[in-house]
Amino acid sequence: MENNNQRDQFKSSLGFILATAGSAIGLGNIWRFPYMVGENGGGAFLFVYFMLLILVGLSLLLVEFAVGRNGGSNAIDSFGKISSKIKWVGWLGFLTAFIFLSYYSVVGGWTLYFTLSSLTGSILNVAPAEMGNYFGSFISSPISPLIFHLVFMTLTVGIILGGISGGIEKYSKILMPALFAMMLILVIRAVTLPNASEGIIWYLKPDFSKITSKIIVAAMGQVFFSLSVGMAGMVTYSSYLSKKEKLPQIATQVAFADTLIAIIAGFMIFPVLFSSGVKPGQGVGLVFITLPMVFSQMPLGGIFSFLFFALLVVASLTSAISIMEMPVTILIEKKNMTRRNATFLVGGITFLMGIVVSLGFGIWSNFKIFGMDIFSLFDYFGSNISLPLGAFGGALAVGWFWKKESAISELTNEGETAVGFANIWDLLVKYLAPLAIIIIFLLNLGIL
Ligand code: TRP
Repeated sequence: MENNNQRDQFKSSLGFILATAGSAIGLGNIWRFPYMVGENGGGAFLFVYFMLLILVGLSLLLVEFAVGRNGGSNAIDSFGKISSKIKWVGWLGFLTAFIFLSYYSVVGGWTLYFTLSSLTGSILNVAPAEMGNYFGSFISSPISPLIFHLVFMTLTVGIILGGISGGIEKYSKILMPALFAMMLILVIRAVTLPNASEGIIWYLKPDFSKITSKIIVAAMGQVFFSLSVGMAGMVTYSSYLSKKEKLPQIATQVAFADTLIAIIAGFMIFPVLFSSGVKPGQGVGLVFITLPMVFSQMPLGGIFSFLFFALLVVASLTSAISIMEMPVTILIEKKNMTRRNATFLVGGITFLMGIVVSLGFGIWSNFKIFGMDIFSLFDYFGSNISLPLGAFGGALAVGWFWKKESAISELTNEGETAVGFANIWDLLVKYLAPLAIIIIFLLNLGIL
């Protein structure tokens, strides 16, 4: 039997870095980032993304690390330890986790399907011009995406049942570097295609006149989504972290790796678009439509296709488990559930919610709220409202509710590391980050 009072810990610093990077790096970088860039004007989006990443994202990632390690407990109690007035951030994260996990698992299921169809070779027999239809008819069919959604959810549940060091830590170690190597190979193929340079220019060169409030809102949502910030997921992970580890260093490394992978994903995709005449605003299908076009023009394309999608499945799993671990830890510690029951409960509910999302791409595609289909609604609410709100709460917690000396002492391991940075962090967290989030919210509502 499990002893609920005995908390697991990451066994090594590398284990935590890999698990945190594993959480950050996932569908957000490889699937969501490119289509966000594609829908929001290329270089203009990229520019805003960078600004928000450096000024807001990184400091709020550190907020979650500091709150979590100081709390050493589930997200609600970790925020509660700072002030009971700020516990809501944990509860909000709890709800948000269900929203994210439900559709994350659906898209994770798509990557499983693409892995399998690379293995059978069926994907390589699709003519490039037909790829869009191939993808569209798969995600809109009623049953098969649900089967893959179920498999993905089952894998996630299986890993979570193993606990922190046995499950999460073990799986993150070898596979992330393999994904990185694989992506580099694909970038080399993509940038050597005819007309690749047009795509690269579109991707990298900001056209400042294109920056609109919609782009700024989308970029902020993407920064938080990609860094796993705003849902207290990183609070949960760092609550399992030992006092020795240097938070600023780890956060910088994780943010760097996360951004690098996203940037590389863009290099893997935009040259292909411009080389094959596909429009960048493909939405959720962008990666699934363009990459098979590259594979079909490569020697051993089938093997590359299989390896790429299989590694993407792994990257998605290491993110999905970080989403699931958050509510599971809450249920174990606040509701006295066993890890097993909590995991099955969260997995079961999110599986059912995912069914709704998946059917929203097909038989329920006419169902719209605020003009959005079910997936867009989940994603918009989750990324553009709930994450910024949770991140705002985190900034308030550290900037306004926590004694400055205590927060800085947690950040710097009692003055041992990053002391010079601590005051800048304090200013960013106290003023700049909350202000930026409020302004972007008002933009979002059309008030500014
Ligand atoms: N960051 C992950 C990705 O890019 C997704 C993710 C994991 C996440 N945990 C999160 C997003 C917590 C928001 C909050 O795929």
